[in-house]
Amino acid sequence: MARVVVVANQKGGVGKTTTSVNLAASLAVMEKKTLLIDCDPQANASSGLGIYSEKCIQNIYTILYEPQRVREAVVVTDFPFLSVLPSSPDLVAAEIELVGKPRREFFLRAVVQEIAGEYEYILLDCPPSLGLVTLNALCAATELLIPLQCEYYALEGIAQLLRTYDLVHKRFNKELSVLGVLLTMYDGRNKLNRHVKREIWKCFPKLAFDTLVPRNVRLSEAPSFGKPVLAHDIKSRGSEAYLSLAQEVVRRHAGSVPVGGVARSGRKSA
Ligand SMILES: Nc1ncnc2c1ncn2[C@@H]1O[C@H](COP(=O)(O)OP(=O)(O)OP(=O)(O)O)[C@@H](O)[C@H]1O
Ligand SMILES: [Mg+2]
Repeated sequence: MARVVVVANQKGGVGKTTTSVNLAASLAVMEKKTLLIDCDPQANASSGLGIYSEKCIQNIYTILYEPQRVREAVVVTDFPFLSVLPSSPDLVAAEIELVGKPRREFFLRAVVQEIAGEYEYILLDCPPSLGLVTLNALCAATELLIPLQCEYYALEGIAQLLRTYDLVHKRFNKELSVLGVLLTMYDGRNKLNRHVKREIWKCFPKLAFDTLVPRNVRLSEAPSFGKPVLAHDIKSRGSEAYLSLAQEVVRRHAGSVPVGGVARSGRKSA
């Protein structure tokens, strides 16, 4: 059965999609059979892998109500071990349509369960909100990965997300644990970045990943070529960071990593 990792943060522009795409590609390079499910109507994860929603007849929205047809929507990529379930702007409608449906939290779980046996990793890229689609993604996953930008409101944002995690864990999904907190767009020359990093390491010493994703222009360029950074510039610091994250993710099993669970060692200050 796949490890199902949801990449979520209700704050916009913190690196959710960049992390989903590049972690998925890095896992694939490690020959882990991986499926990236784009759960954001902006469809940035799809286009970031060169898959454009207007060209896909089936997508996450069309199969949400017909999970048994999920294989028709899965698209293979240039990476042999990486496939994508693309999104579509139509997914916006699901936020409204699902409201009146029984068991409205579990539509995406049915999709994931249908194909979980065929992959080692399934990654879910979420939209920047805590609406029903994100709730569905949290209910479909076994592990939560939180990308965080080292900005002023980062700690408030993560506190809110962890409250949502607690609620989801209690009410809907006992299987969900927190895989880790990933600091993104980190610039060691920036005083605020350094300060927030220290605070995160202090408050969540066992959850923060050792990997820091640096601010790196190659990471921001790659989506315009419809490629993960590994295919754009394998030697970049962005590529290095996401390969290192993939190794940490493989090592870290959320089942054995409850909030506050992983021992820290040999941390250097950056
Ligand atoms: N490490 C990085 N270095 C430089 N630019 C980055 C990095 N990570 C992300 N970006 C850029 O920052 C912007 C926001 O990143 P991204 O789209 O991954 O965030 P997001 O959380 O998915 O946003 P949204 O909430 O809108 O879905 C993008 O233009 C992306 O290319
Ligand atoms: Mg995004």
